[in-house]
Amino acid sequence: MTAFRLRPGAADRAHALREPCTNMATRHFLTLLDLSPAELRDIIHRAIALKHSKMPREETLKNKTLAMIFEKSSTRTRVSFEVAMTQLGGASLFLSPADTQLGRGESIEDSAKVLSRMVDVITIRTYQHAKLELFAKHSRVPVINSLTDDFHPCQLLADMQTFFERRGDIAGHKVAWVGDGHNMCQSYINAAKQFDFELVIACPEGFEPDQYLLDRTRDRVSIVRDPLDAVRGASLVATDVWASMGHEEERKIRLERFSGYQVTRELMSSARSDALFLHCLPAHRGEEVAADVLDAPDSMVWDEAENRLHAQKALLEFLCT
Ligand code: CP
Ligand code: NVA
Repeated sequence: MTAFRLRPGAADRAHALREPCTNMATRHFLTLLDLSPAELRDIIHRAIALKHSKMPREETLKNKTLAMIFEKSSTRTRVSFEVAMTQLGGASLFLSPADTQLGRGESIEDSAKVLSRMVDVITIRTYQHAKLELFAKHSRVPVINSLTDDFHPCQLLADMQTFFERRGDIAGHKVAWVGDGHNMCQSYINAAKQFDFELVIACPEGFEPDQYLLDRTRDRVSIVRDPLDAVRGASLVATDVWASMGHEEERKIRLERFSGYQVTRELMSSARSDALFLHCLPAHRGEEVAADVLDAPDSMVWDEAENRLHAQKALLEFLCT
């Protein structure tokens, strides 16, 4: 029996990072690079309009169905997609690999061909980005990345929406990433390119984002070791857990290696006085972020979480109508 889950090898990672997802008639959203900067901005502005709409229930996706294949746990992504489909007049199907033939070894190619003849859009949360790409290659309908080991582009739509709402366009600003150079950080690298901002990443040695991504964004992305160097003058400071899903066995060593990379109030005081702090959640207070930063009265992380719903509604409309 072939398990749906396959751990990424170096070759798979190298392949996965070659994006964007071109040469397909169907538009997918596997990384932020699948849409143009103008399209991404249109989605952000539509998300803001939907958020303030007097009619949160629309019919733009009436009779359309979203299939959701989730191999990893999720609260925000799952709920926001399901609610988004309901509010747009459509329906969603949650498909756990444990309950479908995917979990019993039916190939990704066959699953993509079959599902995409029945539903109108598919979202997948899995480990290897290359599997998402393979699925998309055989899908007749748009495929959306709900998180892979390499990227989390839907989260970046919500993060960008949150910044745009509070501070206007992010172009030209400095953004600091403090912590693990994993999927969220790598999506911030793509965001720096698409939304035209400077990104300074503070991470310990050995936890850098993929070198290929760094090589092609050298003009706007840099790595430092001292978090203070990253946050100085930053308009936005972002972080994520130190041990992501799939890193559970490395948790102890990661806690040691990341000590000194916690986002504290003191660290935030070196950023611009109006700097926003964002975290995709779930958070570990006392690890990557101090409780008084996350729970500050003006904390934006709850808006950020809510914006997953609005941003994904705008994305679904963009891909499906
Ligand atoms: N931020 C995020 O993707 O959260 P979930 O894992 O709860 O979906
Ligand atoms: N980096 C985290 C993000 C969770 C939303 C993970 O992959 O577990």
